[in-house]
Parts: sequence; structure tokens; C-alpha cells
Amino acid sequence: MLRNFKLYTEDDYTAMSQKAAEIFASAVAANPTGAFGFATGSTPEGMYKALIQMQKSGKADFTHITAFNLDEYYPIKPDDPQSYKYFMRLHLFDGINLPANRTFIPNGQANDPAVECIAFEEKIAATGGIDTQILGIGTNGHIGFNEPAQELSATTSYVKLADATIESNARFFATPENVPRHALSMGLHTILMAKRILLLASGKGKAEIMHQALFGPITTQVPASLLQLHRDVTIVVDQEAAKLLQ
Ligand code: PGA
Repeated sequence: MLRNFKLYTEDDYTAMSQKAAEIFASAVAANPTGAFGFATGSTPEGMYKALIQMQKSGKADFTHITAFNLDEYYPIKPDDPQSYKYFMRLHLFDGINLPANRTFIPNGQANDPAVECIAFEEKIAATGGIDTQILGIGTNGHIGFNEPAQELSATTSYVKLADATIESNARFFATPENVPRHALSMGLHTILMAKRILLLASGKGKAEIMHQALFGPITTQVPASLLQLHRDVTIVVDQEAAKLLQ
């Protein structure tokens, strides 16, 4: 394992979620006015639940942080239950003491996605940059909506979803045709500029891609493999996702 990686293997999803929440809450405690990067997906839901509990019991405080999310479908309305804006409110933001005016998610309704992407990058830059960025990983190796491809975007961009992602996310929509075909996503530079990465993975479906991302060649065909270039990556996995990492 590369020396820039710290690996925590926990028994199951609940333990993984708790460990990740503790690591994240410590990062916030060390930089209580910092900017932090959030992710959507099934993987961080348990961690968010744990963070809400920690805040309610006085073990975490989010009053002064600024939150940036990795990505959002495009186009999508913010009040659409499948939007990532809605997801974040439901699973975290409405449950913690973080003022709504310091939560930033790319606007899935922006008239001009290119302008929105530039504005989003500028907002991140204005905070001095992201302290800790939470990441999940797609079964195809994507991080954010940076899909396997010959070329990846550096900064926040309007991107096309891979067929594998549409298929995987169709479980949340009435039909696969309802899954938006595009998204706005932080790029690889945006992600790698975070001071620290907190990568979560759970379940046997993630074992193979975690191995490829952490031990395989660095390739744009596995966007998460670019994390090997980052100085400070903390990985929290459950036993099933860790199966091929020992
Ligand atoms: P998941 O998605 O957490 O729902 O598995 C992860 C991702 O696609 O980044």
C-alpha cells in the first residue's frame, strides 16, 4: 500500500460509517471554519446519520464550516427527490447546525452550465480550498461524475454520465430513461486539490474496483486511480470492500 494511504478496515457498514464520521468530525474540529467536500450515494448515508447523532450529542459542530458537494445531475430541479441537493438536505444538512447559505452544490438548473461550473470553482477558491473531501467510488471507478474515459476534466465541468452509471443509478428513478444523461461535477484537479481525501467503500461489489484504484496503474480509465497521486488519502472500508486490499 502506498505510504500516502491510511487504510481502516471495519467489520461492517455500520462500523465503517461510524469510523468515517469520527475521522470527519475530527477534521472539522481541527478546522472549524474550513471548507469541506461532501458526496452523495448510498455509501455515505450511514456516515451522515452518525454525524447528525454526533452533532446532537455535542460531539461535532458544523456551525462555521462551508460545504461543497462533488456533483449534481443536469438538468434537474433542486426539489426533485433525486437531485443531490435534495439528498443532502434529507440525509445531512437539515439534521445538523450548518447554515443553508453555506452549502454549495452545482446548480442543476443553471441556464449556462459552463458559467455555473466556473462560478462553483471560484466559490471554492474564495474559501481558500477544501480541507477534507469525502468520496465514494463507482463500480466503474468514477469519483464524482468523472467517468472512465480517455480524457478527464480538471475543473468543475458539464459531463456525460457513463452507461454503467445510468444503469447503476436507475434504481432510484422510475425508469432508466428518467436518469439524467449529464451532470455538473468537480474535476480531478478540484478533487486532488483538497488537503485530505476521505474515501469510503462498502460491500463486495466495490472490492475489485478498490483494488484497481489503489494498486492498479494510474489511468483515466479508472478515475479513482488518480488518488494515488494525492498526498493524504484516508480510506475507510468494510470487510467486504477490503477483500482484495490485503
Ligand atoms: P454508491 O455510489 O455510494 O451509491 O455506491 C458511489 C458513487 O457512485 O460514487
